[in-house]
Amino acid sequence: MRISILSRKSELYSTRRLLEAAESRGHEARVQDPFKFTIHVENPPKLLFLSKPFPLPDAVIPRIGASITYFGTALIRQFEQMGVFTLSSSRAVNASRDKLYALQLLSKQNILLPKTAFVRRKSEILKTIDEIGGAPVVIKLLEGTQGIGVVLAERLNTAQAIIELLHVAKQNILVQKFVEEAKGRDIRAFVVGDRVVAAMRRVSENPSEFRSNVHRGGRAESIQLPKEFEEVSVRAAKTLGLKVAGVDLLESKEGPAIIEVNSSPGLEAIENVSGVDIAAEIIQFIEQNVGQV
Ligand SMILES: Nc1ncnc2c1ncn2[C@@H]1O[C@H](COP(=O)(O)OP(=O)(O)O)[C@@H](O)[C@H]1O
Ligand SMILES: [Mg+2]
Repeated sequence: MRISILSRKSELYSTRRLLEAAESRGHEARVQDPFKFTIHVENPPKLLFLSKPFPLPDAVIPRIGASITYFGTALIRQFEQMGVFTLSSSRAVNASRDKLYALQLLSKQNILLPKTAFVRRKSEILKTIDEIGGAPVVIKLLEGTQGIGVVLAERLNTAQAIIELLHVAKQNILVQKFVEEAKGRDIRAFVVGDRVVAAMRRVSENPSEFRSNVHRGGRAESIQLPKEFEEVSVRAAKTLGLKVAGVDLLESKEGPAIIEVNSSPGLEAIENVSGVDIAAEIIQFIEQNVGQV
């Protein structure tokens, strides 16, 4: 079948791997830069690629970076309106991009999360921190990625100052209990369809760094994922409506706590560490769900 991979950079590892996997399974695949499309809002909906009519593919794999969420999800929506199978829906990508929105959806499903709050009124900040268990707390930008936009405030007064500062800078933030026992480690579970196809543990190499993101210098290790982590990761992806998701979990005292669900999870570290051909798993999932190889 014909597969369109929506990605700004064809040289990115994940993009390259998806292209390779699609081609090696006999598909005609192309990487297309979302910004080369023009969306024409008319009935029927129309899509141009570099000003020319775009022959519709059988399936679209959106790899929409956080910096282009708005245009990227509008483009996915256009494909949806034109009846094209898209691996991730525009709604699901939008839900996963907003950490607060995603956690609200997960909390309704009784999925364990670190205590999280959203507060605006200055006089309520201290009480809110107290309510979620007191300092230290983690403060996060709702749309941060790769560990940027996540900060640990060790003390109550620093936490209050950071929150006020971000409010003045017109940033939406959430305040979250610091899961101290996670000790700079977290788990990434890669969900495809209704199973976890690969997992890794990420460990911060720097003892004073609580963020374990690979982009922040975290080291990836292989891990045998316990059943309960697997079960909750699949449930989280389902809750957000994602067929492919990178679920981030902390090993908290109470069990696996979800902190984030990524809709365009990277393949490099996790394929290297797990030895799983995740790109092939994704293409296989598309084959089974488009149903016209
Ligand atoms: N509540 C928390 N307690 C302890 N560590 C956390 C907490 N939230 C995040 N972290 C650490 O910070 C990293 C980045 O946080 P995350 O919410 O995944 O944001 P990003 O989207 O930037 O990856 C996580 O991978 C984890 O190591
Ligand atoms: Mg993360």
